[in-house]
Amino acid sequence: MTESRQAWWSRAVFYQAYPRSFRDSDGDGVGDLDGVTEGLDYLARLGVDALWLNPVMVSPMADHGYDVADPRDVDPLFGGLEALDRLVEAAHARDIKVTMDLVPNHTSSAHPWFQAALATGPGGNQRERYVFRDGQGPDGLHPPNNWVSIFGGPAWTRVVEPDGNPGQWYLHIFDPEQPDLNWDNPEAFEDLEKTLRFWLERGIDGFRIDVAHGMAKPPGLPDMPRPDAEMLTHDADDPRFNNDGVHAIHRGIRTVVNDHPDAVTIGEIWVFDNEDFAKYLRPDELHLGFNFRLVRADFDAAQVREAIENSLAAADLAGSPPTWTLSNHDVEREVTRYGGGAVGLARARAMALVMLALPGAVFVYNGEELGLPNVDLPDEVLQDPTWERSGRTQRGRDGCRVPMPWSGDEPPYGFSSSADTWLPMPPDWSSLTVEAQDGVAGSTLELFRTAIEIRHSRGDLGAGVEWLAVPTGVLAFQGTDGVTCLLNATDHPVPLSDEDVLITSAPLVGGDLPPNAAAWIR
Ligand code: GLC
Repeated sequence: MTESRQAWWSRAVFYQAYPRSFRDSDGDGVGDLDGVTEGLDYLARLGVDALWLNPVMVSPMADHGYDVADPRDVDPLFGGLEALDRLVEAAHARDIKVTMDLVPNHTSSAHPWFQAALATGPGGNQRERYVFRDGQGPDGLHPPNNWVSIFGGPAWTRVVEPDGNPGQWYLHIFDPEQPDLNWDNPEAFEDLEKTLRFWLERGIDGFRIDVAHGMAKPPGLPDMPRPDAEMLTHDADDPRFNNDGVHAIHRGIRTVVNDHPDAVTIGEIWVFDNEDFAKYLRPDELHLGFNFRLVRADFDAAQVREAIENSLAAADLAGSPPTWTLSNHDVEREVTRYGGGAVGLARARAMALVMLALPGAVFVYNGEELGLPNVDLPDEVLQDPTWERSGRTQRGRDGCRVPMPWSGDEPPYGFSSSADTWLPMPPDWSSLTVEAQDGVAGSTLELFRTAIEIRHSRGDLGAGVEWLAVPTGVLAFQGTDGVTCLLNATDHPVPLSDEDVLITSAPLVGGDLPPNAAAWIR
């Protein structure tokens, strides 16, 4: 723990920029890397230590960049490699680190490896790079097993062989345009090593590793016990994920990354057993793991406390700093999750104070600092593959990916010079823009700025928290330097004693903390 506690990332505030949605520099309606560069002064003022960029590699964008066709180049849509170089240089000049998203579980179906695998037919070495199998039943008519795709429908697609006949099936845990790599084939790691070194040598400070609990598949590919389980989530006994073989892959990644001792790896780990989760964070595996318990907790003091305690326990088992996140590009925004409207916003602001008071690394998703809600989008603009794959029963994740409003009174709110943004922006966001909140006391943006500033000015927050005895519905904890965070999740005001109030998420009412609010006190 001591060594990792001193690293820059151990208590950093990371800012997740979803590149399509942060800022558009060239007027095509899609955000890009020069747009992120334009926003760096804003991010420096917000006080963030590091950026996490969702994938910007060359991609047909079937899953908005999580389908990578060339892992060692930047897509022209985002400005190409030169735009990334400009961003890294400008970010480093402001003391902001840059981490990228890596997608080792699968490639795009447009990747030259997959194209070669299709072209050469069954039995060739090319197919060994992916998970091709013969189908079951007469003429191989049925998929090799019952696995379903996270986006809906079967996790297998049958190919047409070079002779024009239907042939083998290939595995895709996500979209058919995202074939899973065969990690039993050493070529998968050899290629990933090239990719890791390519970006590290270009000055990248680390990686968020997509589906870090995927990659390894169990021998024999046994059926799922419950193939009808809810999409986009999975249970502990789901054979698609968290197979033991994955740890050797992480050890390999760590060996390469260790050549750049300051670099960090952060795994996306949807695993909720603490011991299993901690395995990913052993000293020779990942540096940090996303813990999604806070995302899953309702605005309820007991649930929030349980999420925090479990995340701390998992991190403790691993001897690694905990991580905290309330939202990202895959989940409904917290303003909406907590009830929407004024109440949802008040609760999201309160939870921001809870999160920023915790020890470890914090991840803020672009727009969270503005208090953006999810957006109800009309059917015809939906782009997430989940929508079509689910037979139009699940709307997918577009509602949390709507571009950021920067200024002005109407769409596109300074996000782009084009009104034709890749997802439409709501007409009622003028009070949520950066411009409308900048310097305005009590705005969500100023709440984040002040809280991050106080967070940075506090010393080491230590590894754990001390819980204080409080009435039901209230939560209070203390970090090691004596600052207490109080959350009021009841429906009545809670008196604050006359301690020094550092910051509150809502104005006090006659000295009391109103419902759906939090305060830091000394
Ligand atoms: C991760 C990403 C998600 C993507 C999926 C497939 O869960 O966060 O956005 O669709 O992996 O790469």
